Amino acid sequence: MKCRDNNHTYDISKKGYINLFNGQTKIVKTYDRKLFSARKITSDTGLYAGLTEKICEVINKIDNKNPRAVLDAGCGCGNLTFDIFRKTGKTMMFAVDLSKDGIDFAAASFCEDNLLWIVGNLNNLPLSENKFDVILNIMSPANYLEFKRVLKHDGVLLKVLPDSDYLKELRHFIYGENDKNEYSNKDVLTNLEENINITDIIDIRYTHAVKSSDIPALFDMTPLTLNINERERTKAELTGSLCETGDFEVTLAFKIAVCGKFIY
Ligand SMILES: C[S@@+](CC[C@H](N)C(=O)[O-])C[C@H]1O[C@@H](n2cnc3c(N)ncnc32)[C@H](O)[C@@H]1O
Repeated sequence: MKCRDNNHTYDISKKGYINLFNGQTKIVKTYDRKLFSARKITSDTGLYAGLTEKICEVINKIDNKNPRAVLDAGCGCGNLTFDIFRKTGKTMMFAVDLSKDGIDFAAASFCEDNLLWIVGNLNNLPLSENKFDVILNIMSPANYLEFKRVLKHDGVLLKVLPDSDYLKELRHFIYGENDKNEYSNKDVLTNLEENINITDIIDIRYTHAVKSSDIPALFDMTPLTLNINERERTKAELTGSLCETGDFEVTLAFKIAVCGKFIY
């Protein structure tokens, strides 16, 4: 299958994505097939539904163009991307991630017209200038120069950051009173403020009951649990003991920073 853009022709792999990664950065091994399949299981239980609903509400409020062009920069395995694509409708969506495992997973799970999966680096986006009405950057690293380059002049960036209470019950369960249970988004927010004009910040907070059968996936879907084996109890022991407690209620807490292109 071929795709044309600015007289360039790209091959779309049989699996339904384009690989435009130029190999000039280190791949983060954390984001592998195991993490993505766990992330899909937990997303499918509705863990992030409150977040994607709010994002769609914001997208629909900020522009009524039809169709509109949306980029998801750092889309992972595409669960949230697809949810937003489906709920917003009439959207042309491009989704980029550095992890081939993530994009492979996304393309195999969600194959739709007007939804293009790309293996690429958000620090060197393989996309032309002034193309997008909206960029989504959900719990992923950012490159604001690149985002400004590919955003249209009146385009909007929606940067989603976990808030300090995000999955706090899981962090407390694993790390107890150890300071690893603390999370602050202060540095990310400061960096955002220094680089782009924030027009609004929306706080989202809700709880979600994770069934005991989904607790192993909850453990595996987040980089939060990566260093567990350094501690006295292994990840398997911790997962097992949490499963025994039955359903586990977790807090989902985020900020959506709504950002315009220029610093006024
Ligand atoms: C925590 S995951 C979030 C994924 C997705 N947005 C979600 O919320 O499910 C962070 C993602 O950023 C991606 N990432 C990290 N560095 C990147 C880069 N330089 N370019 C593109 N993606 C990158 C990782 O591969 C990973 O999929």
